[in-house]
Amino acid sequence: MEADDKKELLGESFQGTPTVVPSQPTHTRKLYLESYGCQMNFSDSEIVASILSDAGFSTTREEDEADLILLNTCAIRENAEQRVRARLRQFKQAKGARPHLVVGVLGCMAERLKESLLEQEKLVDLVVGPDAYRDIPNLVEQVHGGQKAVNVLLSREETYAEISPVRLDANGVTAFISIMRGCDNMCSFCVVPFTRGRERSRDPESIVREAHELFEAGYREVTLLGQNVDSYKWNIDNKGVIKDEAQPVVRFAELIDRVAHVHPDLRVRFSTSHPKDMTDDVLEVMAQHENVCKYIHLPVQSGNSDVLKRMNRGYTREWYLERMESIHRIMPDCATSTDIISGFCGETEAEHQDTLSLMEMMSYDMAYMFSYSERPRTLAQRKYENDVPEEVKKRRLQEIMAVQKVHAANRTKSYVGRTYRVLVEGTSKKKEDQYFGRTTYNTVVVFPKEDAQPGTYVNVHVHDCTPVTLIGTITQDSKDA
Ligand code: SAH
Ligand code: SF4
Ligand code: F3S
Repeated sequence: MEADDKKELLGESFQGTPTVVPSQPTHTRKLYLESYGCQMNFSDSEIVASILSDAGFSTTREEDEADLILLNTCAIRENAEQRVRARLRQFKQAKGARPHLVVGVLGCMAERLKESLLEQEKLVDLVVGPDAYRDIPNLVEQVHGGQKAVNVLLSREETYAEISPVRLDANGVTAFISIMRGCDNMCSFCVVPFTRGRERSRDPESIVREAHELFEAGYREVTLLGQNVDSYKWNIDNKGVIKDEAQPVVRFAELIDRVAHVHPDLRVRFSTSHPKDMTDDVLEVMAQHENVCKYIHLPVQSGNSDVLKRMNRGYTREWYLERMESIHRIMPDCATSTDIISGFCGETEAEHQDTLSLMEMMSYDMAYMFSYSERPRTLAQRKYENDVPEEVKKRRLQEIMAVQKVHAANRTKSYVGRTYRVLVEGTSKKKEDQYFGRTTYNTVVVFPKEDAQPGTYVNVHVHDCTPVTLIGTITQDSKDA
């Protein structure tokens, strides 16, 4: 499946999703908020909605009735930005008839393009980077005062730790919790370190508190989000120096352990793991807790060590294979998924074949697959020539996708015939009399509703499947997984 088809955890999704917060009596103005990109961006939109709710804005799904339109944008690939530009031109037209309408750009494109969105392109009134959301209410007032408003300052500290996100588009069952911001990795193809700034981790107390509050409110699954969750650290700096001797050091393994202890009925997922930093202690904590889902998203990007070196990923093919071996040694049944880029700078046909052969060895449950898009300011843009012709990138991507399609279908088929514990998430989109939920392996299962309720667990015997979905019935039998 390609990312464009599906909302993914940390990769990009192109649906601009309008989001809604219930109106309160003090809310006098209306916000229309559209989100693009990764789940961290969707999670940020929930922070923005919370900040603006305190400033008197309720949200609306109708762009026509909005006083303030905000697009929370993504800059990961060029086509993501083109989408947003097209949307902004539509809003600019709308502004002609509604002079009081304020239009703003948030997120990674705002950070990348800064003032030029206001000055050269004259598309918007407001530009706010990912670390400046607390300033949005002031900036909106500034625009009402007749000025254009920009705040794209990046911070080394901001984690919005104490802001209680307004759960947008909530199903009341699954929620995202941001555990860190930024990225220090400098993969040569990637714009994120420039748009999101330095990596910083959020106070574990506030993370566990948020998980507790979600559980109390009826949620039964949390996904911990970061660009590289294995690099999560609290009370210790990058050089390993402890900041406060009286306080415990918390790394990712301890954090998972703490969140898993919130309640055995609260499922824990996380994304994204990084092959260079994923340690066995994280895998061991996963194995110890039944409520930590047996699913790891471990982006490989390429199956060739020279390409990985040019990508500055910090691992080789052999290292990656060893990490995957550890996953399967510690959790023999763990499901896996990945991200792959075709046609990175200098990629030869033989190097591309190495990606296909690695895929054959891994047989991933799922993958997000992209062709390389050169991004301004990145290491790759400065150092390497973007020399793989577009049609070759596309052809290689097709080959990668064709292999993945077979693997995904095989994986789905291999789950048929057993009984799984499934968290009921809601009514199936295709059939009103069916629910959908997911197994610990993140595979979607649909089944007749009977008298089950969303937000509860049921055992489902799987008797059939489509290429990506399991089909089953609720059973009183004990589960196999
Ligand atoms: N932090 C995550 C990835 C975040 S971006 C990680 O390190 O794995 C999500 C995915 O987008 C990446 O894994 C990569 O496959 C893809 N991507 C990032 N930059 C890209 C670019 N310039 N061109 C094509 N795909 C890119
Ligand atoms: Fe980008 Fe690499 Fe950071 Fe992921 S780890 S966000 S690919 S720089
Ligand atoms: Fe996410 Fe896109 Fe930014 S993938 S971090 S919204 S560039």
